[in-house]
Amino acid sequence: MSKFVKKIKIIKPDDWHVHLRDNEILNQVIKYTGKFYKRAVIMPNLNSPITSCLKSIAYRNRILKSMHLNYKFKPLMTCYLTNSTSPKELEFGFSKKIFVAAKFYPNGCTTNSKTGIKKISDITPVLECMEKIGMPLLIHGEEINQNIDIYDREAKFIEKTLDPLRKKFPKLKIVLEHITTKESVEYIKNNDVNYLSATITPHHLMLNRNDMFYGGIQPYLYCLPILKKNKHRMALRKAISNGDKHFFLGSDTAPHLHKNKINMLGCAGIFNAPSSLLSYVKVFEEMRALKYLQSFCSENGPKFYNMPINKETITIIKKPCKIIKKINVGRNVIIPFLSGEILNWSIESD
Ligand code: NCD
Ligand code: ZN
Repeated sequence: MSKFVKKIKIIKPDDWHVHLRDNEILNQVIKYTGKFYKRAVIMPNLNSPITSCLKSIAYRNRILKSMHLNYKFKPLMTCYLTNSTSPKELEFGFSKKIFVAAKFYPNGCTTNSKTGIKKISDITPVLECMEKIGMPLLIHGEEINQNIDIYDREAKFIEKTLDPLRKKFPKLKIVLEHITTKESVEYIKNNDVNYLSATITPHHLMLNRNDMFYGGIQPYLYCLPILKKNKHRMALRKAISNGDKHFFLGSDTAPHLHKNKINMLGCAGIFNAPSSLLSYVKVFEEMRALKYLQSFCSENGPKFYNMPINKETITIIKKPCKIIKKINVGRNVIIPFLSGEILNWSIESD
């Protein structure tokens, strides 16, 4: 592909890691994911987590109802694993396509994770069942312990939890979500199997931990896993720049109301749905890797999940696009990633 690409047509992407929340927030944020993505894996960490087939069906219906515009968007639902998840519920949900995967949140690792798993050995029967039926396990990979430095939690998780887990369940399909470190990239690359993949967010590709403190503390750049040193960002950028099938798009768009971001205990999460796809394009362009944009955005994910690749296409053109400044939610607002900034790429229909 030439250096001066002005137009790119790719298969319509999917987003394999999305938080849509519920009710008023859901109603306001859904259109941004629906505009750029055909399908999205919906994370189950609501205030009342999605822990059963019935809850998932009801939540999916609320999502579909909130799609005001005519996008043909398909939410892919996940089950939140707790110590009381039953293998039967998972097996039923997976066989009826109510769930495409289950999410493992270590207890206390992030937003709404207080009913997450304390010890992975507590859910051995669930993992045995998932391995048997081929149901993917989506992992928030951080070792949670006040004695472990926040910057080391991902690397420690690989050593203490992920590697032993993979030895015990070698055929369990795993997505290590929103990886942020060189160690994760290396682990995925050194374990070149069909059972292990990773998602990467736009913000971890674009920013490092200095950005969080640029000119003052920047609460809108606080997310989990936390932004890391620049060498890690460089490793992530390199990982996506050669078409490696183990890495795919997962934006981790995570809306929080402004009043909850700017608070004595500010919430972790970056709402990037309005800019995520255009941000990835920017990174692939900077890496001179636009020819691999389609595999990252639209092919590697469905191949891992054993789903068909989308038929629709979208065209991305080199035309400045201003990212929306804020979104109103009742009397509150949500401020997106790159609020008010201009990106060089747009969707052709804009
Ligand atoms: C996410 C959220 O707010 O739900 N927050 C975040 O910082 N990424 C949860 C998560 O994926 O960790
Ligand atoms: Zn997330």
